[in-house]
Amino acid sequence: MRIVSGIQPTGNLHLGNYLGAIRNWVRMQDAMEQDQGECLFFLADLHAISMPHDPAQLCANTLEMVAALVACGIDPDRSTLFNQAQVPAHSQLQWLLSGTARMGWLNRMTQFKDKSGKNREGASIALFTYPVLQAADVLLYQATHVPVGEDQKQHLELARDIAQKFNNDFCPGYSDEGSDVPGVFTLPDPIIPPDAARIMSLRDGSAKMSKSDPSDMSRINLTDDADTIMKKVKKARTDPEPLPSEEKGLEDRPEAANLVGIYAAMSGQSVSDVLTTFGGEGFGKFKPALGELLVEMLAPINARFIELKQDRESLDAILAKGALKAREVARPTLDAAYNALGLIRG
Ligand code: TRP
Repeated sequence: MRIVSGIQPTGNLHLGNYLGAIRNWVRMQDAMEQDQGECLFFLADLHAISMPHDPAQLCANTLEMVAALVACGIDPDRSTLFNQAQVPAHSQLQWLLSGTARMGWLNRMTQFKDKSGKNREGASIALFTYPVLQAADVLLYQATHVPVGEDQKQHLELARDIAQKFNNDFCPGYSDEGSDVPGVFTLPDPIIPPDAARIMSLRDGSAKMSKSDPSDMSRINLTDDADTIMKKVKKARTDPEPLPSEEKGLEDRPEAANLVGIYAAMSGQSVSDVLTTFGGEGFGKFKPALGELLVEMLAPINARFIELKQDRESLDAILAKGALKAREVARPTLDAAYNALGLIRG
């Protein structure tokens, strides 16, 4: 089993980022030890230039994300942790795969349509070919499994289509119905976490928790100290009703559902377990319990994160080590792809 996944470097990391991708990666890494597999996790800094961006901000965000990943439990000694830009094979393989990916396939990608919006003509070419780079990211390492959010499923299917067509077109004797001739690329399977908690704003249960929300009270940052966390939870928007005893009772109560969802995700319980404990209680009782749980779980992460964020030397060393390992793993596949295409490299 080889698990490969990437995350775009964003700044101002919060609880939504943690309970979304990051914690899931940590779990996979920890499960891997008994299982004889390995994990490669990277910062998708090359993908970040597909949208207008500020270079200094990108650089800062990449370093901040590395600090967050390590603080949350990604261990650079057990997992390969790196950024794309330090492994030129990502860009190289992207070009090679661009000969195989079809315009029609990319035209169907919904993320491009969403992100380019009405301004298709003004969108960057990188935004259009973004999924080809993503295919290169995983095919380069012969990934067997790729943990992603639901929104990335289509990109993963594209990666499989590209791998399949490349193998068919350029590996004589290869057959996708099964044959003894291996293709250059492994077809990766997505892993979409079933219980991915959608963490919403503390001020508005219908909006996602977001770094760009102007109100800092809407989110719990990974840099927040215990007092701040407590204050934000206590001030979180709610309704006046006590908590229901069953999940159904949360249906038209987005703020209540969000807080219960956060409690469930942080404690590893199901929503219905949480309601068994707190059903009938008012928020005067539930909020302090939630606040304490968050403080307990986030305090060690918070301390490590703040320390590491300021330690540029350690961050550079982590990335350098990861890149070295990634380049090694990538080399045979990149060589095989050049060869299969008839490209002479001396
Ligand atoms: N596009 C992904 C996202 O926005 C990030 C990403 C880039 C990625 N390359 C990847 C995810 C390769 C999985 C595998 O979430």
